[in-house]
Amino acid sequence: MKTLVILTGHSRGLGEALAHELLACGCSVIGLSRKAMARPPVAPQGLRFDQVCIDLSDPPALEKLLEDDCLRWPLRQADRAVLIHNAGLLSPVALVGEQSQTELIQSVGVNVTAALLLANWFVGASQGCADRRLVQVSSGAARSAYAGWSVYCATKAALDHHARALALEAALPHAPSSGLRICSLAPGIIDTDMQAQVRATELAAFPMRAKFDELKASGGLASPQDVAKRLVAHLFSEGFGREPVADLRSIG
Ligand SMILES: NC(=O)c1ccc[n+]([C@@H]2O[C@H](COP(=O)([O-])OP(=O)(O)OC[C@H]3O[C@@H](n4cnc5c(N)ncnc54)[C@H](OP(=O)(O)O)[C@@H]3O)[C@@H](O)[C@H]2O)c1
Repeated sequence: MKTLVILTGHSRGLGEALAHELLACGCSVIGLSRKAMARPPVAPQGLRFDQVCIDLSDPPALEKLLEDDCLRWPLRQADRAVLIHNAGLLSPVALVGEQSQTELIQSVGVNVTAALLLANWFVGASQGCADRRLVQVSSGAARSAYAGWSVYCATKAALDHHARALALEAALPHAPSSGLRICSLAPGIIDTDMQAQVRATELAAFPMRAKFDELKASGGLASPQDVAKRLVAHLFSEGFGREPVADLRSIG
């Protein structure tokens, strides 16, 4: 079976680990990030690994990419089509009233606008493919509120609710998404640049910071490689998409 995965935010962190794991599991991968991966993996024979440099907070640039054949064409060749929207921005980490408007706009652009544009495109472009799966990389912050993270919490909650609505559509025989499996998945707390950013925040802007300092100090952060293994195992399991909103930490 030919599986093609379109993976955003593949250049570092969880996305980089996912790219390696997906290739190891026999998938072809197209990665979308602003920067190309510094040391790209060599795709095993018969698979492809391509990188597209794009700023996902720029909707016209994304629209242009989605009109291009460079994503649509490989999708048409696949027996199994997967979209993983993993790119995400935590910033602005600031109290409401003190947030950078630029950061706020970028965050909504990457975390929500790009996610919804990609999902809409993917559902349309993958029609005819019998096995279609979509992962929105969400966060525990979608489900628990944190002072200082209002934009992050709101954008990740938007992904969860979009997934719930899309799952209802996917059950309709006449919908373009009919048969699609979707999950907005919180991955757990992972030792990446994003966590370094959390620990670099001033306490006044993020009063819960001590919890994350403590997790790092006690070795309580998951490795990107471990999370990627578990995420990919879940993605290709029978149970994937049974719940449109899930937490990887509570999946076997
Ligand atoms: N780390 C955690 O503890 C944690 C916990 C819960 C959920 N998550 C979620 O897991 C996902 C991955 O997080 P991570 O920790 O791996 O983050 P990370 O280390 O900060 O990496 C973020 C990725 O997103 C890409 N990205 C950021 N802005 C972009 C833009 N404007 N256009 C295109 N790509 C962009 C980055 O690539 P470029 O810089 O090259 O563009 C990078 O590949 C995120 O959605 C995050 O919200 C993480």
